[in-house]
Amino acid sequence: MIGIDLQTAKRYLEAGNVVGIPTETVYGLAGNALNPDAVLTIFRVKNRPAFDPLIVHTDSLDKVRTLVTGLPPLAETLAQAFWPGPLTLLLPKQPNVPDLTTSGLPRVAVRIPNHALTLSLLRQLDFPLAAPSANPFGYISPTTARHVEQQLGDQVPYILDGGPCGVGLESTIIGFDAEGEPTVYRLGGLALEALEAVTGQAFRVQSHSASNPAAPGMLSSHYAPRKPTSLLSDAAGYVASPTAGALVFQTYLPDIPTEQQLRLSPTGDLNEAAKNLFSYLRQLDAMPVEHIYIQPVPNEGLGRAINDRLRRAAA
Ligand code: TXA
Ligand code: MG
Repeated sequence: MIGIDLQTAKRYLEAGNVVGIPTETVYGLAGNALNPDAVLTIFRVKNRPAFDPLIVHTDSLDKVRTLVTGLPPLAETLAQAFWPGPLTLLLPKQPNVPDLTTSGLPRVAVRIPNHALTLSLLRQLDFPLAAPSANPFGYISPTTARHVEQQLGDQVPYILDGGPCGVGLESTIIGFDAEGEPTVYRLGGLALEALEAVTGQAFRVQSHSASNPAAPGMLSSHYAPRKPTSLLSDAAGYVASPTAGALVFQTYLPDIPTEQQLRLSPTGDLNEAAKNLFSYLRQLDAMPVEHIYIQPVPNEGLGRAINDRLRRAAA
């Protein structure tokens, strides 16, 4: 069921059940992060492999401190600058965080999401919420309550409706080495430019591999429509066809019917493109087309994370 009643969501969560929650990035499938049974339910509902750890959500830095053994100075700076917001930090976990939540890893992923309804829910709970994106493993992330209902509605008793997600891309994930130097493990809703502007330093981005991902969310095939999907590089052409569909940045491709094409941002705004990305991929997947072509966007700002998702949708 979809609704906006925090008390209902709270009751389910306190009973160890899972609830769909809105965030500014994508919708999450939330459960008590400190309760192994609730965490197991998340993995089962999502059909997610146990080696892929969950992000833990809270509403304050004080609560984050109860989950981790400490924050390196740069993590403090980033937390102060960007929380609540689309940033996840990998930090050494305290023993109260179950191994199931982190898939046995020594670090826990934590974030304070920037969504009024979910912040209010988190304030009323006396435990943090583990929440992966609320999609079946490997499919496109949900950016509306309806998306969650369409795919997981029969297994999730309640979905909190907070409207369409304002950012539309999952959080940017950052970890630190022993010297406190950062690595970006997943490009996301917080642009590298914003990180660099606040810290005055460059951020290394870990490129992912199919065989041995440093963070399992970096598997090269992910976010994938069910239809055959290919990425258009600048050089490569496409097969013009009345049965093709396309996801383009600003302007329609010739020779594909325009009603089978979606424009991420006619004005060329990368933030708008990010916001539309997952919902448009879903719409194309549902259209009567046999093949989906996707066009990369400019590789700057949120464009880097958009291109990352597009590459993996087509992998
Ligand atoms: O924006 C987001 O981050 C959304 C919303 C709901 O908060 N959540 C999300 O979760 O995208 P999910 O499960 O789809 O992706 C989480 C990824 C994992 O696949 C993994 O790569 C990384 O976060 N991760 C989580 N915990 C980790 C850990 N302890 N060590 C390394 N990587 C971790
Ligand atoms: Mg996900």
